Amino acid sequence: MIQKAKGTYDVFGEYGKRLLYVEELIEGLMEKYNYEYFRTPIFESSNLFHRGVGETTDIVTKETYDFKDRGNRDMTLRPEGTAGIVRSYIENKMYGSHTVPVKAWYYGPMFRYERPQSGRFREFYQFGVEVFGSEDALADAEVISIPVNLFKLLGLKGIKVNINTLGDSESRTLYRDALIEYFKPYIDELCEDCKERFLKNPLRILDCKVDKDNPIMKNAPKTIDYLTETSKKHFEEVRSYLDSMGIEYKVDTNLVRGLDYYTHTVFEVEASVEGFGSQNVLCGGGRYDNLVETLDGPKTSGVGFALGMERLMTAIEYEKVDLPIINDIDCYIIPMSEKEKEYSLNLVMDLRLNGFITEIDYNNRNLKNNFKQADRLNTKFVIIIGEEEVKSNIITIKDNKSKEEYKIEKEKLIDFLDENICK
Ligand code: HAM
Repeated sequence: MIQKAKGTYDVFGEYGKRLLYVEELIEGLMEKYNYEYFRTPIFESSNLFHRGVGETTDIVTKETYDFKDRGNRDMTLRPEGTAGIVRSYIENKMYGSHTVPVKAWYYGPMFRYERPQSGRFREFYQFGVEVFGSEDALADAEVISIPVNLFKLLGLKGIKVNINTLGDSESRTLYRDALIEYFKPYIDELCEDCKERFLKNPLRILDCKVDKDNPIMKNAPKTIDYLTETSKKHFEEVRSYLDSMGIEYKVDTNLVRGLDYYTHTVFEVEASVEGFGSQNVLCGGGRYDNLVETLDGPKTSGVGFALGMERLMTAIEYEKVDLPIINDIDCYIIPMSEKEKEYSLNLVMDLRLNGFITEIDYNNRNLKNNFKQADRLNTKFVIIIGEEEVKSNIITIKDNKSKEEYKIEKEKLIDFLDENICK
């Protein structure tokens, strides 16, 4: 038997319904925030991610799905959404044509060759947003408010927002120098990857999964102590906007995030639900004021986040959030014989187009088994179509719960169902 690839999963049944509900909620929320829907390709030229996400990040060095296409081009399945959206922003010259700021949202599969475990997949879905063209802390605060409000709408409670700042380029250079100075005497005690990170990008040492509990990491310099005045002010403004929106957060000075493009604000939202496990970060993001330029666009500031759908779905499950999922059908139609199938089929289409969830017997069951099937489908009304009904256009309809039976003229059936089915 052929099995699914490691780190992937299938969606069906109850989970599928819950997922669709959450996806629709996201769509509605993005409409209210007035974000524009973007869809970019699942594979892009490998260069985009090397330069965008960063050559020294774990994502690029260890986790990308790279392949050569038949034209011998280096391609990569996108490991995240930001680089592709930035590419699209630049390639479609949105800096010239769009209303500023450009507020994009997206949803789709991402691919990382990671060690699969609970909450960590090789194919996973992200919902994310990117805002281009505003340096104002208002944009950072708005972006942080999106997942917070989504969780609020869903009724998720155990949510914690952690924020930090990496500052502007000048602050980052000061901080980089401080890190080099600090780690120099300890370099032999760090893992092989960190030795390389020390030379290429010392900030990435702080993101190391091997050495993360090493006290050397805990005592490392904090970004917050190397901020320029402008960076400090930006961070204070973000905090003050969050306060005014009533969003609770914690400043976590160890938060640096695993991607290279961040400047100023970085944030993560975690679920503190019992039993959730270590992969409890539901979403992460931040500001990236140099990325558009790094990818050959004009200097444009950006800020965004991405949320892992699988983790959100797990949080919903663990918190036992009751989603309004439809688990019953309105009508089940039983044609008594072959002769009534055509009439029944037309009725089915009519009911479906009028908004009723309708099923028909596809398996020529006898009446008893048809009623059993109607019960299995949690049917509200059973409609039996026999010779008499076809001739008279008077429909026999049975309330499947009370077992009460009604005779209704076909023309009045929709009105009857409208009155008797609470939507
Ligand atoms: P990220 O932190 O790499 O950021 O991923 C964002 C979220 O995607 C994570 O918090 C997690 O919920 C989910 N995620 C990541 N990897 C996996 C995995 N292997 N399995 C399941 N879920 C996963 C980004 O991707 C940035 N592009 C976010 C961003 C947008 N920053 C600015 N704009």
